[in-house]
This record gives sequence, C-alpha cells and structure tokens, in this order.
Amino acid sequence: MMNEVDLKILITGGAGFIGSHVVKLFVEKYSNYHIFNLDALTYAGNLENLKDIENKPNYTFIKGDITNETFVNELFNEHKFDSIIHLAAESHVDRSIKDPLAFVKTNVIGTMILLNAFKNTWNDNFSNKLFYHISTDEVYGTLGETGLFTETTSYNPNSPYSASKASSDHFVRAYGETYGMPYIITNCSNNYGQNQFPEKLIPLFINNIINNKPLPVYGDGNYTRDWLYVKDHAVAIDLVFHKGKNHETYNIGGFNEWKNIDLVKLLCQQMDEKLNRIIGASEKLITYVKDRPGHDLRYAIDASKINRELGWEPSVTFEEGLNKTIDWYSSNEEWLNSVTSGDYQLYYEKQYN
Ligand code: NAD
Ligand code: DAU
Repeated sequence: MMNEVDLKILITGGAGFIGSHVVKLFVEKYSNYHIFNLDALTYAGNLENLKDIENKPNYTFIKGDITNETFVNELFNEHKFDSIIHLAAESHVDRSIKDPLAFVKTNVIGTMILLNAFKNTWNDNFSNKLFYHISTDEVYGTLGETGLFTETTSYNPNSPYSASKASSDHFVRAYGETYGMPYIITNCSNNYGQNQFPEKLIPLFINNIINNKPLPVYGDGNYTRDWLYVKDHAVAIDLVFHKGKNHETYNIGGFNEWKNIDLVKLLCQQMDEKLNRIIGASEKLITYVKDRPGHDLRYAIDASKINRELGWEPSVTFEEGLNKTIDWYSSNEEWLNSVTSGDYQLYYEKQYN
C-alpha cells in the first residue's frame, strides 16, 4: 500500500535476527528510502549482523529503547517517519516464562509508545503512512493434530510471550479502528537461518552439536512447528509493506511442518555429514528433558491469503535452508563464540540445569 516515493522508514529491532535481514533487504533494494534502525541492543541485538550495510548513505543506526517515551517522542519529532516496520520485541518463550514483566514492558508498552508517537507526529492525518506490526502465529494458541491457523482464527495465547504479542496486535488494531491509523499485521511461523541467537531450537542445537553437548528436547519431542527460512520472511515483509492492504492481516508460513524430534534427527544427520562424524554420532546427544510449561502442541499456518493476493511463496526448501544455516554457523565461529560467552552461560545454566 505504500507509494514508492522517497520515504523515511523506521525499522525497530533491526539488529536482531529477523530485523537485520529486513534492514539489509530494504537498504540494499531501495536507495530512494532512508532506513532508520532503532534498537536497544539487548542480548539479542548485534551490530555484527549489519556489517555489510553500516556505511550505506541511506542507513542510520540509532541505539535506543522503545519503552523510553521521551526519547521516542523526540526521535519522531526530529525525523517524522513516514512508516514503521515494528519488530523490536522480547522474543523467546522460555525467557517469558521466567520474566513475564519484561515482555509486557517491551512488547506491549513499547508498542503503545510507538503507536502514540506515530499518531501524534501525523496528527491523525495519515496519507501514505503505515504502521506495520510484525507478529507471530503463537497468538492463535495451539492446534490439535489437524487444522491450520487462518487470519480469522480467534486469539488464544498460552505463554506470557504470546499474550504480550496478542496484546500488542490488539492495540495496533484498536488504533486503526479508533484513530484511523493505517496498519498491517503479519503473523508468521518459526523462522530459522543465519544470525539467530542460539537460544532458539535450531541454532542452539547446531551450537551444541558442534561442541558435543547434550541436545535438550523438551517433553517427548512430539511438538510440531512450521518452519520458514528467514530471508523468505524478509521478502514477504517487503511485499506486504508495498502491496498489502490497509487494516489487513496476513499469515506467513513455510508450508513446512515438522515434529521437533524429527527435525532434530534431520539436523543431526546433516551435521554428521558436514562434520565428517560417524552417522548417528550427533543423535546420541539427544536428551529428553523436563517439558516447557504450557507448551503449545502444534502450530501450522495457512498462508494461502498472502500467496493468493500478493503472490508470495517460500523460495527455499527446508533441506536447502537448513544446509545454508548449518554452513553459516560452521563458518562464523567468531560470531557464535562472541554471543555464547558471558551472560549466555548464566542463561544456559539456569535454563537447562
Ligand atoms: P530477536 O530477539 O532476535 O530480536 C529482537 C530485537 O529487538 C533485538 O535486536 C533487540 O535488541 C531489540 N529490542 C528488544 N527490546 C527492545 C527495546 N525495548 N527497544 C528497542 N529494541 C529492543 O527477535 P526476532 O526473532 O528477530 O523477532 C523479531 C520480531 O518478529 C519479534 O517481534 C517477534 O515477536 C517476531 N516473530 C519472530 C519469529 C521467530 O521465529 N523468530 C516468528 C514470528 C514473529
Ligand atoms: O511460532 C513463531 C515463534 O517461534 C516466534 O514468535 C518466537 O519468537 C520464536 O521464538 C519461536 O517460538 P518457539 O517457542 O516455537 O521456538 P523455540 O525455538 O523456542 O522452540 C521450538 C520448539 O522446540 C518448541 O516446541 C520448543 C522446543 N524446544 C526448544 C528449545 C529452545 C526444545 O525441545 N528444546 C529447547 O531447548
């Protein structure tokens, strides 16, 4: 829905996993836009993810916290952003179980502060403006063995993380209905790929396999997720930003459901080949551990709306994506070592011991 004129776009959370792929895509593809990346650089944010574009003339990095209202308001007054692609969030379910309030602060209050700043900047005159909220399929809760989440599935979040994302989705829609703010929300399934912090299943297990550490599978491992290669998500975000309809929601998914245990076995097999280990060596590292409380059984996305209306579909198969991901982590040991030192060790001890 955005006209391709010169735009000032604020991307929040652009130093994180998905955000850095979105920032890179926009900076490289649209030299007529200026991309501002606002990120607090929490444990999950990393400027190393943005090395390729850090000196581009159409790119500015701003270190700052979306929960700091004064700072956010001043920033909007100074730059008068035309649109926001909002990704900044606390994103890890296990951390939300230990510290739910941190998730309310960033995901709910932070989003509210951005909504207000955007609304006040444009004084409800929103021509060619857009607030694009990046959300998750976890807001829909859990599925049984069959069925798919569609855009009309009721919200039924089960974890503090998904409750906070559901709440922020509701506020975005409320600003659309109440103040006429143009918005789009996309709800995406599990992403994987390079630059993902190794607390999430795939990068955690790649790192542990490299280091011959146990692979902690929660419960019986029979939980199902739909997996999407992160660069395909970034392409979908670009498409939705430019062609999506105002006040609409789009589900984004990989048409790629895996039970955790099957995925872990595939990963072990691919890693054995890459590391020249005896086939079966990595599988021996699998350790069943205490289940995640409130663990959602199954997520599966019906992405037919974005496919039908905007012509998007994933371009990378799971085997290819996983291969690329393993290769990236194997050849970026320095990145991996830098993010797994210090606080990561404390997190790991608390979570898994
Ligand atoms: P991430 O944890 O890798 O990155 C989050 C980024 O937000 C980090 O760079 C961090 O520094 C920044 N941030 C956190 N709190 C902030 C604050 N208060 N102010 C400013 N910046 C702050 O997350 P991700 O996996 O890249 O997810 C990005 C977005 O996409 C999130 O909104 C998440 O809910 C959503 N999402 C993620 C997935 C997934 O599989 N990872 C799937 C669907 C939707
Ligand atoms: O569905 C989209 C969501 O996917 C995003 O909104 C979240 O930001 C993202 O973190 C992800 O949430 P999940 O909880 O599904 O991802 P995670 O990688 O933490 O876990 C994937 C599955 O693997 C889940 O069933 C729990 C299981 N798991 C995870 C970890 C970290 C394990 O069995 N062991 C583990 O150590």
